[in-house]
Amino acid sequence: MIEIAGVTRSYGAFKALDDTSLSIREGEFFSLLGPSGCGKTTLLRMIAGFDTPTSGSIAIDGQPMDGIAANRRPTNMVFQSYAIFPHLNVAQNVAYGLKRLRLDAGEEKRRVEEALAQVSLSGLGSRGATELSGGQRQRVALARALVMRPKVLLLDEPLSALDKKLREQMQVELRRLQQAVGITFVLVTHDQYEALAMSDRIAVMFGGRIAQVAAPKEIYQRPVNRQVADFLGGMNFVKAEIVEESGASIIVETHGFGRVKTDKPQAFVRNGKAATLGIRPERLRVLWDDATSSHQVTGKVVDRHYFGEITHLIVEVPGLEKPLSVSETNNFGADDIPVGAAIRLAYDPDALVAMAD
Ligand SMILES: Nc1ncnc2c1ncn2[C@@H]1O[C@H](COP(=O)(O)OP(=O)(O)OP(=O)(O)O)[C@@H](O)[C@H]1O
Ligand SMILES: [Mg+2]
Repeated sequence: MIEIAGVTRSYGAFKALDDTSLSIREGEFFSLLGPSGCGKTTLLRMIAGFDTPTSGSIAIDGQPMDGIAANRRPTNMVFQSYAIFPHLNVAQNVAYGLKRLRLDAGEEKRRVEEALAQVSLSGLGSRGATELSGGQRQRVALARALVMRPKVLLLDEPLSALDKKLREQMQVELRRLQQAVGITFVLVTHDQYEALAMSDRIAVMFGGRIAQVAAPKEIYQRPVNRQVADFLGGMNFVKAEIVEESGASIIVETHGFGRVKTDKPQAFVRNGKAATLGIRPERLRVLWDDATSSHQVTGKVVDRHYFGEITHLIVEVPGLEKPLSVSETNNFGADDIPVGAAIRLAYDPDALVAMAD
């Protein structure tokens, strides 16, 4: 649906986007994820036609977009600060873009009602735009974009102004809406949980470049490098040396975890013999009493942090340069393990991922 080929956007000597290529599929919920300033809005604006690449090209639905104005593209954008018109009521806000299509009054009304129903605002058409909650305003902004029936809906941090509870509720609704209307959604976010929960695929960006494109589970479990791993949540890093590399797998030697065979992540770039092994804190399990596992490490608890449903244990393991962070649910009493206790941790070798430094 969207083909981005070698797109660069320069401001003087600075490249806000640097030689970026990406294919987004029809009907996909696609997210651009990365820290502030990495180029997410820049890329979205160029897809929408509000900005032009310095070099490279963008095609949508098979059509090259060079020289095509924003209002002639099969896209619609919901902006980072969703501006709805305060002097218009809800229905008038939603109908705004339809005016230039010169539909007859009945058809226009029907489309506005359909769009309001899609965002669960039926019956609120005559309400003033200022008489709405933040979440409802956000829905008006969505309805205003949906009413144009775009092939692609571009969403720039549409939920960032909402509080946590409402944001989580809107995430579910947005995902349901995308599945119901079946159009391609491109969402910009710097919230990794939002991207993981909503997307079919995610592109992780840093400094104007895409580091990895994959489904949420792949991005979380098989990050290509430390930067991606770190951005997606907690990760224990262990120094490793590549012993053997064959096809899709790799054998590494570590202190602490010994010799490990693991899958090579997508786009893994070998850089000499050194590699890093990563394991997420929740993939380490406390072994209680005389339980054993064929894969385990032994260590000493040096710190403990209580988070209600989980406890983080910081565990020193001989041979490892840094203590391991372990995330354990509190139903077995991890919150009662005393600092100083000797413990054993079990892990699934599949949870160990090799990545480039
Ligand atoms: N008009 C401009 N002139 C100069 N630099 C710009 C301009 N617009 C954006 N930039 C720079 O380009 C980089 C990318 O900006 P962009 O708005 O795409 O970031 P972003 O990933 O959307 O960040 P955020 O999460 O904060 O919205 C930033 O370093 C920004 O300062
Ligand atoms: Mg932005």
